Amino acid sequence: MIKNKNFLKLLDYSTEEFNYLLELSSKLKNDKKNGIEKKHLLGKNIVLIFEKDSTRTRCAFEVGAMDQGANVTYLGPSGSQIGKKESIEDTARVLGSFYDGIQYRGYAQETVEILGKYAGVPVWNGLTDEFHPTQILADFLTIKEKYGKLMGIKMAYLGDGRNNMGNSLMIGAAMVGMDFKIVAPIDLFPEKELINKAQEIAKTTGAKLTFTDSLEDGVTDIDVVYTDVWVSMGEDPGVWKERIEKLLPYQVNKNLMDMTAKDSIFLHCLPSFHNQKTVLGKEIFKKFGIIEMEVTGEVFEGKKSIVFKQAENRLHTIKAIMVATLA
Ligand code: CP
Ligand code: NVA
Repeated sequence: MIKNKNFLKLLDYSTEEFNYLLELSSKLKNDKKNGIEKKHLLGKNIVLIFEKDSTRTRCAFEVGAMDQGANVTYLGPSGSQIGKKESIEDTARVLGSFYDGIQYRGYAQETVEILGKYAGVPVWNGLTDEFHPTQILADFLTIKEKYGKLMGIKMAYLGDGRNNMGNSLMIGAAMVGMDFKIVAPIDLFPEKELINKAQEIAKTTGAKLTFTDSLEDGVTDIDVVYTDVWVSMGEDPGVWKERIEKLLPYQVNKNLMDMTAKDSIFLHCLPSFHNQKTVLGKEIFKKFGIIEMEVTGEVFEGKKSIVFKQAENRLHTIKAIMVATLA
């Protein structure tokens, strides 16, 4: 259905194509668990370009490719000519002649769009400042596994509503007919132009999109509570102070979870700051005196949190993207 197609942003996909990827992800997941996985990518070569750090995305592409019989090259933030001595257009044409598929994680969405235009082989967006489309597949597979459906599910995203996760969740939710809310200070809502695009999609699917700075309107009786880091990779660390002040009221804590539906779940794309066991967590504590950020340790470790199931689903969904576009 989507052989040879790039996966650069959800806006390029139809609801049908998106649902097909979710179904393929489930099948590949079950096949792997039952020990009957078939290798659809034997002899294929894949290159992973990372201009930013990653644990899940990189490892999902590597393990997914290896499970399917493909070979992988990793190009990290340093060590290649990309962007320094060679343009993205030229890199795309070189790598496109060596490899069958290219993953890119970096800064501007435009960069991955240029790669996609010039490579001649499928290019997959593993996160840009604007979008994180592979993450949404894992998130929605996790929600579907829990509730058996996506249509009509009530989801609230709290925090930086105009980062790659806020943007991508909004578009994804519109595509599958969810009742989706961005719950954030008004100046952290997604860009108006992107909201308009999401509303256009919502008209065709019956999705309901709400933008509110009120916790009560945002999370009362909600099924899925989602949050992300308050400062994303590539942002100026100088914004921490302001972001903490703005977003602390939107921290996902027990009081907030108590307002949600009885059977609600907590999701996070990870990595998350919910304790001081990280270098950054310690630094923030020293500077600002807060021990937890977007989610408390209590919620993160609590019964409603299924973040590690969600993280595992990165593998199965990323594998599905490679299989669907290459095999
Ligand atoms: N969620 C996510 O993209 O994680 P990584 O940064 O570890 O890839
Ligand atoms: N918004 C986060 C997502 C990490 C998976 C970031 O870009 O850093």
